[in-house]
Amino acid sequence: MAAPTGPGLAPLTLPAWPIDLCPGVAQYFDTIPKYFHPIIELEKRASGCWLLQAISILPEYRGMGYAKHLLSEVESIAKNTGVSKIALQVEDENTIALGFYKKNNYVEIDRRPVIPFPGSKDGGYYILMCKDLDHS
Ligand SMILES: CC(C)(COP(=O)(O)OP(=O)(O)OC[C@H]1O[C@@H](n2cnc3c(N)ncnc32)[C@H](O)[C@@H]1OP(=O)(O)O)[C@@H](O)C(=O)NCCC(=O)NCCS
Repeated sequence: MAAPTGPGLAPLTLPAWPIDLCPGVAQYFDTIPKYFHPIIELEKRASGCWLLQAISILPEYRGMGYAKHLLSEVESIAKNTGVSKIALQVEDENTIALGFYKKNNYVEIDRRPVIPFPGSKDGGYYILMCKDLDHS
């Protein structure tokens, strides 16, 4: 089943192989800018899960339940493909999103310190969160 895409919602499946067992991947990893490393390392931890890559609601439409609805849609699509877990990443400084995911039963699996993108003042941590999908 093709993963859906649309404004602000881009779920996709992760490769289900351990990155460090694939020939040439370690060398490839070293060519990627350092600020992507923590993100990739966390994606690796989520291997085999569905990854919710991004969810964003236009400011004027926030607080109206749209993100909750999108999250529930993506969970039901993921569940129908037979996967048992869905994963996402959020920065710990993004307290609204973090609270939103916790409220929706996502739990922290791991975290990595943010390496800021050039020109960015971002700090803190990237948090990998996961949710077990109920298959009953
Ligand atoms: C995080 C985000 C997606 C939430 O979208 P939203 O449509 O406003 O969220 P919803 O209206 O569906 O609210 C869902 C829950 O989050 C909580 N929430 C949403 N906005 C909140 C706010 N500003 N303050 C406190 N709680 C908030 C609500 O309590 C709500 O819980 P409830 O269902 O019990 O009432 C939105 O704030 C956003 O687009 N932020 C910028 C992009 C971003 O940071 N994305 C996450 C990247 S990991």
